[in-house]
Amino acid sequence: MNNSNILKDIHERKALRALKGDKISRETINTLVKAATLAPSCFNKQPWRFIAADEIAVLERVYTSFTDANYWAKKSPAVIAVLTEISLDCSLSDRRDYALFDTGLAVMNLMLQAESMGLIAHPMAGFDPFKIKEIFRVSDAYIVIALIAVSEKGGSADHLNEMHRARETAARERKPIDEVLFYNHWN
Ligand SMILES: Cc1cc2nc3c(=O)[nH]c(=O)nc-3n(C[C@H](O)[C@H](O)[C@H](O)COP(=O)(O)O)c2cc1C
Repeated sequence: MNNSNILKDIHERKALRALKGDKISRETINTLVKAATLAPSCFNKQPWRFIAADEIAVLERVYTSFTDANYWAKKSPAVIAVLTEISLDCSLSDRRDYALFDTGLAVMNLMLQAESMGLIAHPMAGFDPFKIKEIFRVSDAYIVIALIAVSEKGGSADHLNEMHRARETAARERKPIDEVLFYNHWN
């Protein structure tokens, strides 16, 4: 296991799109998902589920689920589908259903593990969840909350559109802290 400097990984991780496309080993995929499963969850319910596609025939079907804007992800040598179901985690008062929250924590772990290994793990919401459920034969009860494009870094940016090419090297954009953090009362 790579014990990298996690703060460095948080600061340097970026949703890159210049995928290299070389095969990703199952050992690597297992390492990424193992890190995901070390995330905290409500009552340790561990509501996350993952399906990794790494065979060409399956990947080609998965690519057909992508929205047009995710054309760049069709070079992914591995795609990890992230699933959950509300009843797999705590459901508390005032709509506090923790399945999606805890699954998100797990995905962040996965992304930071990937960053520490020099890999891209780019989450996507732009896909047809019904197609994904059909491809993987997943029951409709589950929510396919994201797909993660996994690749080595350092692929060519030539096939990216102008906006995506610019984003590869641009600084990450964030709202100013006073728009998201309030002290002592809600603004
Ligand atoms: C839930 C989620 C869904 C996303 N969906 C897509 C997507 O479909 N396509 C895409 O190119 N990027 C997608 N992204 C990446 C975001 O656009 C990116 O994380 C955001 O612009 C911030 O950039 P950064 O991750 O490089 O800091 C998604 C990210 C998250 C967390």
